[in-house]
Amino acid sequence: MKIDLAVVPVAGLGTRLLPSTKSQPKEMLPVGRKPVVQYVVEELANSDIHRILFVTGNGKESIENFFDVNKELIQFLRQTGREELLESLEFERQPIEYAYTRQREQLGLGHAVLCAEPFVADQSFVVALGDSIIGRHAESNIVERMITEFDRANADVVIAFEELDSASDVVHYGIAQPRGAADDVFELQDVIEKPDVDEAPSRLAVAARYVFSASIFEHLKQTEPGKKGEIQLTDAIRRLLKSGGKGVGLRLTPGERRFDIGNFESYFRAFAEFSLTDPHYGPGLTEFVRSLLGRQE
Ligand code: UTP
Repeated sequence: MKIDLAVVPVAGLGTRLLPSTKSQPKEMLPVGRKPVVQYVVEELANSDIHRILFVTGNGKESIENFFDVNKELIQFLRQTGREELLESLEFERQPIEYAYTRQREQLGLGHAVLCAEPFVADQSFVVALGDSIIGRHAESNIVERMITEFDRANADVVIAFEELDSASDVVHYGIAQPRGAADDVFELQDVIEKPDVDEAPSRLAVAARYVFSASIFEHLKQTEPGKKGEIQLTDAIRRLLKSGGKGVGLRLTPGERRFDIGNFESYFRAFAEFSLTDPHYGPGLTEFVRSLLGRQE
């Protein structure tokens, strides 16, 4: 059966975005007009995902509320003839079943994925990080391409990678060690977490989208917590690859950058790019930014 199930972990504390995230999830921060998770869900729907399990945690209830159908609001907008605003709520009617489970302690991304096991059981599934958007305005079908490769290669894990502009950035990411040439689709030998610049096997950084067979759960269970007591997803992937599991890497295309909303620098950049390219507000905002910059010179 074709994979149509995605797990979206949204339980992290988001400490790098404090104070914005003190009482609201980082996954609900707006980027342009929409909150981050809406882009994530729209991207998944675009790749034929029909079931989404959010792994939530304390203080993340607004994510669940967001995907409910709000009949009163729809009726109010209809009665007051606000057609454009009604259109903005169309995502509520996407053909997706939503489910929610909680990560009761924030023990890392690997642990969050493990919390999905009772729901996923022996199915293969997608993991899409809830704090990362792929492609400007989420215009990407990377997950669909990953699923195709997963089936074609009979893989155990497929990971999306983004080529970093600067080699010095490898120290912040999980980096691919390809077996052979790193073409658009390549065999994955290993993933090295935050390597030193001169030890990095490539400039290809893990880009927030994965496809797994259910065998990842056994490897997650055997993964020891790291320094901060967190179970790292990368450590479980390394175990899986070392034990003979088949890994495939897929490059994002140049038009398909990853927008990481986990820190202020990349969040600000994403907001600037999405709002400056907004079809309605973008042109006026561009003029405003130009005049602002002119005044500063
Ligand atoms: P991060 O690695 O950015 O961690 O999470 P974080 O805890 O959210 O943020 P900081 O480091 O405190 O600033 C990547 C994704 O994994 C989820 C997050 O919600 C985010 O979507 N995550 C992380 C969990 O679901 N549970 C965790 O224990 C950690």
